[in-house]
Amino acid sequence: MKGKKILIGITGSIAAYKIPLLVRLLIKAGAEIRVVMTPSAAEFVSPLVLSTLSKNKVSLSLSTDHSWENHVMMGRWADIMLIAPASANTMAKMAQGLCDNLLLAAYLSATCPVHIAPAMDEDMYHHPSFIANCEKLRSYGNTILESNHGELASGLIGMGRMAEVEEIFEHLQKQLSTKGRLKGKKALVTAGPTYENLDPVRFIGNYSSGKMGLAVAEALAAEGAEVTLVMGPSALKANHTTIEQINVQSAQEMFEACQNHFSNMDIAVMSAAVADYRPKIKATEKIKKKSDELSLELEKTTDILKTLGNNKKPNQIVVGFALESKDEEKHAQKKLKDKNADLIVLNSIKDEGAGFMKDTNKVTIFNKNGTKKSYDLKSKKEVARDIVAQIIELKNEKDEA
Ligand code: CTP
Repeated sequence: MKGKKILIGITGSIAAYKIPLLVRLLIKAGAEIRVVMTPSAAEFVSPLVLSTLSKNKVSLSLSTDHSWENHVMMGRWADIMLIAPASANTMAKMAQGLCDNLLLAAYLSATCPVHIAPAMDEDMYHHPSFIANCEKLRSYGNTILESNHGELASGLIGMGRMAEVEEIFEHLQKQLSTKGRLKGKKALVTAGPTYENLDPVRFIGNYSSGKMGLAVAEALAAEGAEVTLVMGPSALKANHTTIEQINVQSAQEMFEACQNHFSNMDIAVMSAAVADYRPKIKATEKIKKKSDELSLELEKTTDILKTLGNNKKPNQIVVGFALESKDEEKHAQKKLKDKNADLIVLNSIKDEGAGFMKDTNKVTIFNKNGTKKSYDLKSKKEVARDIVAQIIELKNEKDEA
C-alpha cells in the first residue's frame, strides 16, 4: 500500500462512523488518503476526525471560501476511489450521472477504478431499483463490494450491512497489490446449475445457486488471475473487472464454452452442478398431457471435468467438486482418479450448512498427491479462499518442478 493514493467518498449512512478506522488502517499501511464527503455524511462522522487521521483536508462542497474545489484532479490523483458507505440515494445518482455535490462530481470525473461498498436497510437493498442501479454501475466498470448479512441500523437482521472495515481494507490491498499470487494467470470456472429442456417450457434442473462457483471466481480474481466464468442459469453476476462472465443454459452449452477456452487456461475449477443426463429427445412443441404415465428417455451429457482432466497439459491445474450423500471419501477419491483432477473439493449434503443455495459450506479437499485437508463450516467466500490457497500451492509446486 506504500505510496498508493486512495480517494474515499463517504455518504450519509450510519456506517460512516466506521470509516475513521479504515482511514487509520490505510494510513498505517502507508497509503495516502483524501476524503470527500456528501453534506449529509458530515452528520454521521466528523470531518475533523477524518482530516486528522488522513492528514489531509476533507472536501465537503464544490466551493470553499469562494474558491472552487478541483474535483477533476481528485479522481486523477487517486489510484483508486472507494465510496463507503454508499447510500442507496448516492448510488442512484451515480447510476444516473447526477452531480449535485462534490462527491458525485469527483465520481463522475474519476479516471481511476471505482469501488463501492453499499450500506442500507434490507428492504432497500432488495428493491428492484437498487438492484438495477447496481447493474448499471457494474456496466460502467465499477466494482461493488457485496454487503453483509447482519444487524442493521433499524434493529432488523438482514442484508445491507456494509462490508466490514477489515474486509474493505483487504479488498483494497488486493486491488492495489502489484503482485497478486496469480497475476498473469488465466482461470476458467464453471458455476450454477444447468437446465436440460424437455420441451419449449419445461426442463430438468437442480437447486444449485452458483454462489460457490462465483465465490471461487472472485477469489481467483482477487489474487490477480484473469477469470472466465461460465455460469449456468442463475441471477448471480460476477463483481470484478477481471472476470468475464459467459452465461449458458445447458450442459452442452457449458461444455462448448469450456472447450473454447480451456487451451489458454492455467487453472480450471469445475464447480457447476452439471446435469449428468438430458432428455434424449427435446420436443419442439409443448408436451401435452395424454396417458396416466409418461416415461422420459435420458442420455448422458458430456462430463466436462473429465474431458478437461484427460486433455490437460502438465502445467494446467484442474479442480473438481463432489457433492455426496454417503461413502463421501470413497466417491471423492474415485472422482479424483477417474476425472484426472488435481484437486477434488468434497462437500456432503449430510453436513448442516453445506450444499446448494446456502451461504456457507464445509469441505474436504483431496489432492492427487494423496493428502487431504478438512475445513470447518465457513462462508462460501472463505471456502473459496481456502480452495484458491491450495491451487496456489499446487501452482508453486508445478512452477518449481
Ligand atoms: N461435472 C462436469 N460435467 C458433467 C458432470 C459433472 O464437469 N457432465 C463436474 C462437476 O462440475 C463437478 C464434478 O464433475 O466438479 C462432480 O460432479 P458429479 O455430478 O458429482 O459427479 P459424477 O461423476 O457425475 O458422479 P455422480 O453423479 O454419480 O456422483
